[in-house]
Order: sequence, then C-alpha cells, then structure tokens
Amino acid sequence: MNATLDHMNAALNDCDENSPFRLENEGAYRVWRARKLESRRLLDAQHVFAIDSDVVLPQPLRERLRRQVDAFNFVIFATGSVVDKRGFIAINRQFGLTQIDSSPGADADSVTSLRVLDDADERAQYIPYTNRALNWHTDGYYNPHGRSINAFALYCVNQAVRGGGNYLFDHELMYILIRDQSPELLAALMADDMMRIPPNIQNNRVVRAEESGPVFSIQPGNCMLNMRYTSRPRNIVWKSDKRSERALNLVREILMDGAAGVELRLQPGQGVICNNLLHGRQAFHDDASQPQRLIFRARYYDAIDLESGLDLQPAGYQG
Ligand SMILES: [Fe+2]
Repeated sequence: MNATLDHMNAALNDCDENSPFRLENEGAYRVWRARKLESRRLLDAQHVFAIDSDVVLPQPLRERLRRQVDAFNFVIFATGSVVDKRGFIAINRQFGLTQIDSSPGADADSVTSLRVLDDADERAQYIPYTNRALNWHTDGYYNPHGRSINAFALYCVNQAVRGGGNYLFDHELMYILIRDQSPELLAALMADDMMRIPPNIQNNRVVRAEESGPVFSIQPGNCMLNMRYTSRPRNIVWKSDKRSERALNLVREILMDGAAGVELRLQPGQGVICNNLLHGRQAFHDDASQPQRLIFRARYYDAIDLESGLDLQPAGYQG
C-alpha cells in the first residue's frame, strides 16, 4: 500500500515539475498553449470519424484521432450501423479506456442506458433519467479522488423526436481563458477546498460520503488536467471568500458567453468520446409512436490514450 502511494506521489511530483498546468511553469504553459490553439485553428471540431467496432484502428486514423483529441479533448465518431453495448465498449478500449466506473444507475456491464424512466424506478429522481435539460457539468464531480472520472463516452441508439442535443466545452480551453485573464483566480480554482459536496443519504443510508476538492487538478500518473464542476446550485457548497466567488463567476461568464462551445445532436450510430470535458444536454421530447431516446454512457478512470489503445484489440467483438 505504502509502495503504491509512494509511486503515485513520485508520479505527481514529476508532473508538478514539468506540467504546463502548474502556475510556476510559465514557459511550459506558453509552449503547450501555442500548440493547443494552433491545432484548434487547423482542425474541425465537428468532424465525424468513421470507426468500425470490429476492426483495429488503422495507424493513420489513430494519428488523426490523437491530434483531434489533443486539440479539442473530444472526438465524434460514427459506426456503419448501430452497435450494441459490447461494440461500444470495444471502441472505447481502442481509445485506451478500460477502467470503467460503475455508477449506481449502470447496467451489469457498467454501461448506463440513459433513457426516460417512469416514476416507479428510483433512478427517475435523477435528471439524466428524465427528459429535462442538464446544465453544464463534468461527470462524476462528486466521486472520491481515487475514482476521478477522466474520460467518458456517449453512443446514440435512438435520438428523441425533438431536442436532446449535447453541448461541449473543452476544459483545457477554459483553463487557458482563465489563466490568461487572471492567474490569481486560476489558483483559487486549484485550491483543495474549493468545493465541498455533502454526503448523499437515502433512507438513512450513506450512498456517498462527503467529498471536497479543487475544480482544476493535475492527475497523478498521466499528468493531465482534470476538471470538476457543476452549475447546479444544489448539493454543492463552494468556498465563499471573495477570490473564490470571483473565480466561480468567471467560469460562469465564460460558459454563458458560449463562443467557444460546440453543439452536437448525435444521430443513431454516432457517439462522442471525450476527456471528461464540460458538457450539458438540452431537454427533449419522445413521441410514443417512435422508439424512446436511448444513449449508452460509459465513464472511465483512464484518460484517452491512443498509444496504449494500440495494444487493446477489439476483444473478439463479433457484432
Ligand atoms: Fe454528464
């Protein structure tokens, strides 16, 4: 146990020394920032990549996907026909995503089937299982530190008759916009006590213990930037000093401005794989005469890694 902790601390210290996300490293930040903004300028965020769940990603495609993820932290993809959950998991594996998080509402294979549930199902009390809008958030912001969500994927089986689009905002771009404007406010967002999430208690049972943590943090191991955020006012307590309030208001203003956000409305057979960026969902309307809106969702502790995904074959998936 101690050896594992020592290893994690050593990995984090390595990140600390070189990370562009550390405020002291202005030179590394400038280099990373310039490269990131240049690739965003050159590439199309809305490009849809054709992916076959049954075939290992060819190297040229893998390289294009890697560049797309570096630029935007997400990739939109389409399969030739709609695949099942095994096909969805097989695609995610090729992006290096293997450590799947099993949230309470998930199916036995840890994939969550997001659709409107009737009131008899206790999950219906949570907005993802209704047709209501989901405001800006990152997934699993309430998870304990050892189970940070670094990536998630969505896959559309059926889309609603109206609405149901998603909007995305690259959390690394949010980091840049804040750091450029005020390193002091960025430091506030990196403070360990920036947010506190009260415990989730249902029927006198603690479903989730209290959590606290920063908005932006550097992940040990992969050294990537993680963001925890929700715009919901309920079930979260923000640090209330003046600097923290100003920092939070700046995040809200950037999101409201909307200029750097991306909107997409997944069609059946399309999906998005991302490094847990900021996102939301529009309200939607299902028509009783049409199949219900159904989106598969899988959350991962890993971040996207198209190099390690090279060793992960589609696991014998046969459609
Ligand atoms: Fe989400």
